[in-house]
Order: sequence, then structure tokens, then C-alpha cells
Amino acid sequence: MAVILSNTLVSAGIFKMTVAFTGAVKPGQFFMLRAWDKDPLLSRPISVHNYESGQLTFLYQVVGKGTEILARLQADDEVTIQGPYGNGFPEITGDLCVVGGGIGTAPLYYLVRHYQEQNPTGKCRVYLGFRDIAYGADAFAALADEVVLDVGGIITDKLTVLPGETVVTCGPEIMMAAVAGAVPAENTVYVSLEAHMACGIGACLGCTCETRSGNKKVCTDGPVFVREEVFNV
Ligand SMILES: Cc1cc2nc3c(=O)[nH]c(=O)nc-3n(C[C@H](O)[C@H](O)[C@H](O)COP(=O)(O)OP(=O)(O)OC[C@H]3O[C@@H](n4cnc5c(N)ncnc54)[C@H](O)[C@@H]3O)c2cc1C
Ligand code: FES
Repeated sequence: MAVILSNTLVSAGIFKMTVAFTGAVKPGQFFMLRAWDKDPLLSRPISVHNYESGQLTFLYQVVGKGTEILARLQADDEVTIQGPYGNGFPEITGDLCVVGGGIGTAPLYYLVRHYQEQNPTGKCRVYLGFRDIAYGADAFAALADEVVLDVGGIITDKLTVLPGETVVTCGPEIMMAAVAGAVPAENTVYVSLEAHMACGIGACLGCTCETRSGNKKVCTDGPVFVREEVFNV
């Protein structure tokens, strides 16, 4: 159980929940959340949006029953969080370019913050695409060397990747596939996949995805994969 410190609306249908937590948490990892008894049956996977000074933050979109219940919680309520789970993003040492779409921008904030802490002289560029309303762009702008924002268009149309940059993308699969196809082969590209998850710990096989090296579990082998593993490029 974790105590909720705040749970606020940040944009239409988008909430930010902060809970008290201690322990190691890597960017790109996720927790299984629940604040209900039997209905819905399963806990819900939500990525780490930020982790700082014992405060763990989730940025989530209300899309169904589970996230609707989460959105009704208030400060001092309790939520069950299990994790952190998943491999997370690898440590990146050269320059970084992140490409996020919609709620897929959620795990990229902690990645950028962590990257800047570890690589104070490294360059970090951020591309953010939203269907209708942008959120979180100011927070990225406070950290990154450049932020390219697109609302209503196709963010990958604006994407230019520089030699030596490592690219990290999270968002709709069609956007990640476009990034995987557009970035030159010389640049490493990591993608963070989504899948329906029941257990989050590799036990149910509910999140299996096909990769170049056979079936893998998104929850334990991923959610972060190198692009060649999961996209035909
Ligand atoms: C590793 C991981 C990290 C995630 N991180 C975040 C995050 O940081 N913020 C966030 O808002 N969401 C995140 N998600 C998606 C989130 O888990 C789902 O939106 C949530 O489980 C929906 O629960 P619900 O009960 O509200 O909706 P449901 O009633 O279960 O579903 C509503 C709709 O969402 C679709 N859906 C449900 N679960 C998933 C899923 N796992 N992947 C894709 N589509 C789904 C359903 O097919 C349905 O169309 C993440 C998913 C994964 C696998
Ligand atoms: S969610 Fe159960 S194996 Fe991945």
C-alpha cells in the first residue's frame, strides 16, 4: 500500500498521481496499480513518470474502469502498488533524442531527467506529439536542449535525428513503427511497448509479443526493446 500525496487533473482526462515510495526505480519501469477489490479483476500497469525525493509520480489517462477509479482517489487515500517491474531504459551515455506520443510521453520525463543528471554535458532533444491538447511540454522544456511539439499532425514528419544520437520512443505503436523505420540504421533506437498485462511478473504469458528471437514477455523481457527486435526494419 502507498499513501497518495496528490492526485490531480492536469489536462482533459489526464491525471498525475504522486505517492510516497522508497526503493530503487529505473526510468522505463512500471508498477501494477489497484485501488479496488474484485472489479475490475486485474491490477493496471502504469509507468513511472518521475521519482524524486521519495515521491513516485504516475501520469495516466482515464480510458476505462480501472483508471476511472484511480482518478477518483484523493490525497491520504491508499493505493496498492506492486513493482517496480520491467527492464527499464538502458543507461544512455551519448546524446539523446526522445519521441513521445500522447500518454506515451509519461515514462520519457523521468528518462530525460535521469539522463541530464548522469550526463550534464550531454545534449537531449525531445519530440512530443499530441492528438488535440498538449500536456507536460513545459516540464520537458525545463530540462531539454530542444523541444519540438506537434498538436494534431504527425510528429514523425518533423523528426530529424542527428548522428550519434540514441533514440527512445514511446507512444502509439504506429508512431513507434514510423520512428523505427525513419531513423538511420547507425542510430540505436529503443521502443517501449504496451501490452495487456495480468500479472506483470512473467507468470501468466498474457503479455507475450513476437520478436526476432522468438516470443518474449513485455512485462519482464520488456517493456523496452531495441527496434530491430520488434519491428521489421
Ligand atoms: C508497461 C505499461 C506501461 C503503461 N504506462 C501507462 C502510463 O504511464 N499511463 C497511462 O495512462 N497508461 C499506461 N499504460 C496503459 C494502461 O495500463 C491502460 O490504459 C490501463 O490498464 C487501462 O485500464 P482501464 O481499466 O482504465 O481500462 P480498460 O477498461 O481495461 O480498457 C480501456 C481501453 O484501453 C485498452 N487497454 C487496456 N489496457 C491496455 C494496455 N495495457 N495496453 C494497451 N491498451 C490497453 C483496452 O483495450 C480498452 O480499449 C501502460 C501499459 C503498459 C503495458
Ligand atoms: S503480464 Fe503476466 S507474463 Fe507478462
